[in-house]
Amino acid sequence: MTTKSTVLILGASRGLGLAMAAEWLKLDAKVIATQRSASRDLSELKGRYPASLEIETVDIMEAASVHALRERLGGHRIDVLFVNAGICKAHQETPSAVNERDFVDMMLTNALGPMRAVELLENLVPANGAIAVMTSELGSIAGNRGSWELYSSSKAALNMLMKCFSARHAGDPRALLLVAPGWVRTEMGTSAATLSIEESIPLVVETVERSRGRAGLRFIDRNGRTLPW
Ligand SMILES: NC(=O)c1ccc[n+]([C@@H]2O[C@H](COP(=O)([O-])OP(=O)(O)OC[C@H]3O[C@@H](n4cnc5c(N)ncnc54)[C@H](OP(=O)(O)O)[C@@H]3O)[C@@H](O)[C@H]2O)c1
Repeated sequence: MTTKSTVLILGASRGLGLAMAAEWLKLDAKVIATQRSASRDLSELKGRYPASLEIETVDIMEAASVHALRERLGGHRIDVLFVNAGICKAHQETPSAVNERDFVDMMLTNALGPMRAVELLENLVPANGAIAVMTSELGSIAGNRGSWELYSSSKAALNMLMKCFSARHAGDPRALLLVAPGWVRTEMGTSAATLSIEESIPLVVETVERSRGRAGLRFIDRNGRTLPW
């Protein structure tokens, strides 16, 4: 990275988002990392990078909260906008058994919320920048063999909304990325997951950095390999 870039990560209080913030700080980027409520881990990171890390508070379920962030950011240039926030509830349930509220919460947090944030913040991202959203291999309709079906359907909805965003921005010079990190040991991924955070996130960050300035929509894994829709 030659000049100092600014990276905005929505949902960086813990897990993969926190690790992405730490990784970009290591690469000497300026990072704006968001939390929903005070995050001790994010404050500790701020202690290590007082000049390069800014912490904002945002709930992507709340439109007003994202509008307020947009106001606070004013004319900032955001080289990489990465919407990481997501939830998983009732991953073993099926449509007849799920609590409807759990399903609606996943649809709002994993699909509508991220794309609303992208729409509200995208004009801060310059032509050589990247707009990325954390999706999942499970969001691939072609690739999913029936796992975590309600969560997976919210990520498939996210993929569709990003695809429609890209169609509405034909000719956009920016990279539009749906990034799947692999199955990673976090609170959501559980201890049964195959990858450590260290095995996933440096690759995710490297892949996003490599994609900057490459126009167009891509659904990719952490290594930058194209995934089937
Ligand atoms: N771990 C995996 O194996 C895996 C695999 C594929 C995709 N993903 C995706 O990767 C992303 C991060 O997952 P993770 O494993 O790091 O999960 P995690 O440990 O559960 O962390 C989720 C993050 O999202 C934030 N968040 C949740 N709802 C939010 C909201 N309404 N507004 C703002 N932030 C919100 C959380 O903030 P709080 O601390 O405030 O709750 C937290 O920072 C998610 O989109 C997930 O679907 C994960």
